[in-house]
Amino acid sequence: MKLLLLATLALNLALAPAWAAAGPEQMPPPQAQALWNYITKTSPYAKWGQWPGYQGLQSSRSPHGPYNRVFVNQTGFDSTKAPLNYGTIQVKVAQTKNGKVKDIVAMYKVKGYNPQAGDWFWAKYSASGQALAAGKLAGCIRCHGVLGDNDYVMVHQFR
Ligand code: HEC
Repeated sequence: MKLLLLATLALNLALAPAWAAAGPEQMPPPQAQALWNYITKTSPYAKWGQWPGYQGLQSSRSPHGPYNRVFVNQTGFDSTKAPLNYGTIQVKVAQTKNGKVKDIVAMYKVKGYNPQAGDWFWAKYSASGQALAAGKLAGCIRCHGVLGDNDYVMVHQFR
């Protein structure tokens, strides 16, 4: 885990110009802690929108769940087709029916981060924000990659 974090950090430094050029709004580097700070403090995900057709509490398919809520930032909403705009962040809160958060996963689209797999940075956090895994996570990519034509997005269909 420590090694992974270090590797991610080293990668951030190498990629600094790419993400820094993302836009006027200061976007975080593709790094677990920076992304967590962004989605909880700079631009709290709970205030973002939800995809039409996937709003409120939804029941999850394996391995997420048992219930979930998915939020998408404005840059994501502004994407009218796949691939989505750079700077898109999607957050999924996995929880029980009565609201106890189990974990939080995020996908963040960063130009040049991982061109072979849609340039998504993947992260999984505990309910309190501890990074459990982050980076070019093979498990996430393999499953979401089934929807490569839809830019790895599961809950909203692009044309
Ligand atoms: C075995 C398949 C599978 C794996 C592995 C998987 N996911 Fe998902 N993911 C799904 C499905 C199915 C959904 C749709 C919502 C649901 O059922 O919970 C989803 C939804 C999401 C969403 C909401 C946005 C979207 O794509 O619709 C995010 C964010 C997400 N997953 C992140 C991750 C991360 C991060 C990982 C790796 C740590 C991961 N997922 C691993 C199947 C998977």
